Amino acid sequence: MSLLERRKEDIERHLAKYPQKQSAVMPLLYIAQEEYGYITEEAMEEIASIVDTDVTQVRGIVGFYTMYYSQEKGKYLIQICTDLPCALRGAEAFSAKVCEALGIQPGETTDDGLFTVENVMCIGACDRAPVIQVNFKFYENMDMDSFNDLIEALRREHDAMQPYSHE
Ligand code: FES
Repeated sequence: MSLLERRKEDIERHLAKYPQKQSAVMPLLYIAQEEYGYITEEAMEEIASIVDTDVTQVRGIVGFYTMYYSQEKGKYLIQICTDLPCALRGAEAFSAKVCEALGIQPGETTDDGLFTVENVMCIGACDRAPVIQVNFKFYENMDMDSFNDLIEALRREHDAMQPYSHE
């Protein structure tokens, strides 16, 4: 099913906002990312065709802006703010511990495909650092105990969604 078939209403709503269709590229890329978890080559081609532009232009936008992902991420995207105000409250050390606990480096995904960690700039909760977002939901005043509890809960949530196995 194409992006247009999946999200027709949203796409049309954005297209209606702009006198020139090309101006809707960025919101349409967001829709693709929401839908697939990252921006696939097929989605870029489809968006180029929807807004009547060259796919190279669309690829250029995806490559330029860090908020767009052209590679698959883990099921849970953990974004840790390590911007200066949070760094002053220990966010960098916290990020290092998180990565160590998951056995990955920032930007990497765990082998089971569940968790990706990213260090990000200010997410607007500077006085509650260390602060993270998991799939854009905020968790504030984190420490390793609360982080480990959260990881456990997310693993349980993931396991509960798996189909029942007869083996
Ligand atoms: S600097 Fe980290 S949330 Fe603002």
